[in-house]
Amino acid sequence: MFFRNRAFFLIFLLIFYFISYIPYSKPQAASLYPVYAKNGVVSSSDRIASEVGVEILKKGGNAVDAAIAVALALAVTYPTAGNLGGGGFMLIRMADGKTTAIDYRETAPAKASRDMYLDREGKVIPSSSSIGYLAVGIPGTVAGLKLALEKYGTMKWQDLVEPAYRLAKDGFPVSYWLAHTLSTNTDLVDRFPRGVSGPRELLSKFPESKRIFLRDGNYYKVGEILKQPELAQTLERLQKEGPDEFYQGTTAQLIVKDMKKHGGIITLEDLKGYKPVVREALRGDYRGYEIITMPPPSSGGIALIEMLNILEQYDLKSLGFNSSQRNHLIIETMRRAFADRAEFLGDPGFVKVPIKGLISKNYASQISKSINLNKATQSQEIKPGQAFSYESDSTTHFSIVDSMGNAVANTYTLNGSYGSGATVTGAGFLLNNEMDDFTAKIGVPNDYGLIQGDANSITAGKRPLSSMTPTIVLKDGKLFLVIGSPGGPTIINTVLQVILNVIDHNMNVQQAIDAPRFHHQWLPDIVVFEPYGFSLDLVDLLKNKGHIFSSKAGYIGNAQGVMIDPQTNFRLGGSDSRGADARSAGY
Ligand code: DON
Repeated sequence: MFFRNRAFFLIFLLIFYFISYIPYSKPQAASLYPVYAKNGVVSSSDRIASEVGVEILKKGGNAVDAAIAVALALAVTYPTAGNLGGGGFMLIRMADGKTTAIDYRETAPAKASRDMYLDREGKVIPSSSSIGYLAVGIPGTVAGLKLALEKYGTMKWQDLVEPAYRLAKDGFPVSYWLAHTLSTNTDLVDRFPRGVSGPRELLSKFPESKRIFLRDGNYYKVGEILKQPELAQTLERLQKEGPDEFYQGTTAQLIVKDMKKHGGIITLEDLKGYKPVVREALRGDYRGYEIITMPPPSSGGIALIEMLNILEQYDLKSLGFNSSQRNHLIIETMRRAFADRAEFLGDPGFVKVPIKGLISKNYASQISKSINLNKATQSQEIKPGQAFSYESDSTTHFSIVDSMGNAVANTYTLNGSYGSGATVTGAGFLLNNEMDDFTAKIGVPNDYGLIQGDANSITAGKRPLSSMTPTIVLKDGKLFLVIGSPGGPTIINTVLQVILNVIDHNMNVQQAIDAPRFHHQWLPDIVVFEPYGFSLDLVDLLKNKGHIFSSKAGYIGNAQGVMIDPQTNFRLGGSDSRGADARSAGY
């Protein structure tokens, strides 16, 4: 009957034709289903940047080439965190198994000192470590990207800068989310409270930032084209003269000129002397999966492995996702790992970090003995563990997998949204406020509410402790999951929960990322959970065990992942539905 009509038959053929294409590539989505692609996937917090990465892969670039182009593109299209003026970590695993952790974290300038943010009475001067020129660490991003290219890239630096240059010069359409953040002081959704001013208030303190990003109050509307001519010039200089231009050329001079004018302390020598560090990735295992992650000055890798080691001793799978008993165990584990973070962790170039002890299985089983299955431990009662005795000797993320199986997990940051708020005059990019990640004063919380220790105190040349946790998981020795997130200290718990969701609860990468999350960081002694994340019954059950809850629920993290389907070898992209413009793209 149906096929008697030729028109219907033709339509049927057309539909069949399109359906037969679908299994090979689902180029873009943000849904419960991951994006799937046969060759390569880029998951990032910005749709345009993800597409830039895929274009590089299609041109024959590898995952590292794509990572460099994505990082530079994000510096244009995602100014809240994408950056030239910040720093971060890039974890690379090549298809042949070679693994490298590139540390391009900012460092404290030569004139920085332990008490630089204290007044005469020894009190922390409010916002001094987080707003303006004194908050800026020596940026590492450009040097980090250069190093990644030298070690593993295959394309020309100029060609990798080109997409970012074009986006800055020709502009890109302002998204609904970007228009909202630049014109108000709120996010579209309630986020974890950080106690810093919103973007409009922050950026309006600095005339150059106000002019470029807020258009002096004539705020960008959705769909308008945002062009950044000064940033385009900076990218053009970087393109023509190479990455060292940032540290030795006109760009360096522009940074230093602004520093001198506005009471900053970064000098030309500081910039010339900046060096990224190649580190050995940290390794652990969880229920037979191998965990490869970031070593110090990230606290994330150590805390992640410590927590996985503790949780491995419990059958989370049969306790069930979001059950009170499972969540109790995870909260107790987080509390303990964050207590250790505060005590032991800092830049390994300056302090001895008991890495092996903290990530040892014996240490974890010792710690788990202190966990009461029925009762929350008060954080005040928790003293950091005896990690040294187990030591036998001692904020936007993107994930990329290419067609050969090379993988990059990159988290980099300006620290707070829009960093210090200050844009380099004539160079068009924002500077970080990473100095706030140091301990300004022991016992006084930073912008993320972290109480930190002496190991993370300020010293010239030192890297502030970070929570960024770019991570790669292997199954049977093969690439399985590439993951990371922004979110300050919540990063570590976000990465933890995504891994638990995949391994223990059998979720795909998109489900694992979208599933509701919670966070505990030892101090303050409160559990934060996401809106609608915990039922009232669950909260009651956990309160009965003695857990204390934050009165405010906020969304946690913006995770970006790629998973390999072991059966088909397809790349599955998961992009956080918490990120308004976050997308996975593939081909
Ligand atoms: O390195 C760190 O731990 C922080 N500077 C990260 C900040 C961050 O994730 C902000 N994102 N929401």
